[in-house]
Amino acid sequence: MVNVKLGTRSYKVTIDPGLMDKVASHLTSRVGIVTDENVNAQHGDRLRANLDKAGIAHATIIVPPGEKSKSFAGLEHVVDGLLGAKLERKDTVLAFGGGVVGDLAGFAASITRRGMNFVQMPTTLLAQVDSSVGGKTGINTKRGKNLVGAFMQPKAVLIDPLLLETLPLREFAAGYAEIAKIALINDAGFFHWLEDNYKAVFAGGSNGLAARIHAITTAVQAKADIVERDELELGERALLNLGHTFGHAFETVTNYSHYVHGEAVSIGTVCAFRFSKSPDAARVEAHFKAAGLPTTFKDHDIEDLMQAIAQDKKVSDGKLTFILAQKIGEAYISKNVESHAIRAFLTTESGR
Ligand SMILES: NC(=O)c1ccc[n+]([C@@H]2O[C@H](COP(=O)([O-])OP(=O)(O)OC[C@H]3O[C@@H](n4cnc5c(N)ncnc54)[C@H](O)[C@@H]3O)[C@@H](O)[C@H]2O)c1
Ligand SMILES: [Zn+2]
Repeated sequence: MVNVKLGTRSYKVTIDPGLMDKVASHLTSRVGIVTDENVNAQHGDRLRANLDKAGIAHATIIVPPGEKSKSFAGLEHVVDGLLGAKLERKDTVLAFGGGVVGDLAGFAASITRRGMNFVQMPTTLLAQVDSSVGGKTGINTKRGKNLVGAFMQPKAVLIDPLLLETLPLREFAAGYAEIAKIALINDAGFFHWLEDNYKAVFAGGSNGLAARIHAITTAVQAKADIVERDELELGERALLNLGHTFGHAFETVTNYSHYVHGEAVSIGTVCAFRFSKSPDAARVEAHFKAAGLPTTFKDHDIEDLMQAIAQDKKVSDGKLTFILAQKIGEAYISKNVESHAIRAFLTTESGR
C-alpha cells in the first residue's frame, strides 16, 4: 500500500494480487465502468460479477482500444454513457484499463456533473506504475498529445498485479521502461535491484510475483513522493519526463504508429544519458536491451525530429529544457540546452 499525501485530495494506492475479487469492498456508490474492448473481453464479466455479488449497481462504457479513443469524440462517448446511465455526482467513474482509459475516464469524471467520484483500476503495467497515480488526465487534439485535460486526483487506485497475466509482452516491456526510468531519476539502489531481478519481474507467475509486486510498489512510491512535493509540475515533477522529450519526438515523427510509448521512452532515456555524456550510459543501455526494449533509432528525418522537439512545451527563449543525468539515480532539469547541440547529437546517433 502506498499513500499519496495531498491534503484533502489524499488517497491510497492498494497493490494486492487478487484485488479484482475484493473490489466491491473499495466501492460504495453506483459505478460507471469505463473500459476498452480488449480489457472488457478479458476481464469485464468477472468485474461485473463481483459488483453484482456485492449488490453494487453498474453500467459499462466501452471505447475502442488505442490512443485514438483519447479524443473529443471519445470523451463525448464516455460523458454521454455516464449521463445516459443516470449516474450522479457521488457515483463512481471506475477507469478499468490502461493509460488511455485512465486519462480519458479521469477527464470525463472531472467535467461530468462538474466532477464525479473517480477511482482508477489500472490493467497495464504502464498504468499501474505511472499513469494511474498523480492525477494527470486528458485527451489529445489534432494539435498534439495531452493538450486538453485536468488535474483530477482519484479517490483510490486499485492495483491487481494478476491482471497483467493477460498483457502482451510488448506492452509489459513498455511499462517496464517507465519503472526503469523512475529508478534512473533518483534511486540508484532500485536500478541495481532491477538489474538483478528484472527476469523475475518479467516472468510473473508464482515465481516472479513477489518481484513484480516489489517493482510496482517501489515505482508507485517514488512517483507519489515526487507528486506530493510538486503536484502541479511547477518544478521537480518535470523529472518524470526523463527520456520523454526525445521519446515524444520519436513518437511524433512516426505518427504514433511505430513505437509504443515505453519503447520511445527507452530510446529517449538512453539518448538522455548519452547526450549527458554520462559514464553510466552503456550500463543503462545494456539494461534496456536486456529487457527487450529498443535503444537506438534510424531512418527518422533529423529536421522533423527537431521540429517535434521544438513543439514540445518545454521550450523558452530558444533554449530547450531537457532532463539530463550524469549518473544513474541523479537526474536533473537543464533549461539551457542549445538546439544545435541536440541536432548534432541526433545526427551522430541516427543509425548508431
Ligand atoms: N496521466 C499520466 O500521468 C500518464 C502517464 C504516462 C502515460 N499516460 C498515457 O497513457 C497512455 C498509454 O497507456 P498504456 O500504455 O497503458 O496503453 P493502453 O491503455 O493503450 O493499453 C495498451 C494495450 O493493452 C491492452 N490491455 C490493457 N490491459 C490489458 C490486460 N490486462 N490484458 C490484455 N490487454 C490489455 C489495451 O486494450 C491496449 O490495447 C498514453 O495515452 C499516455 O499519454 C498518462
Ligand atoms: Zn511515459
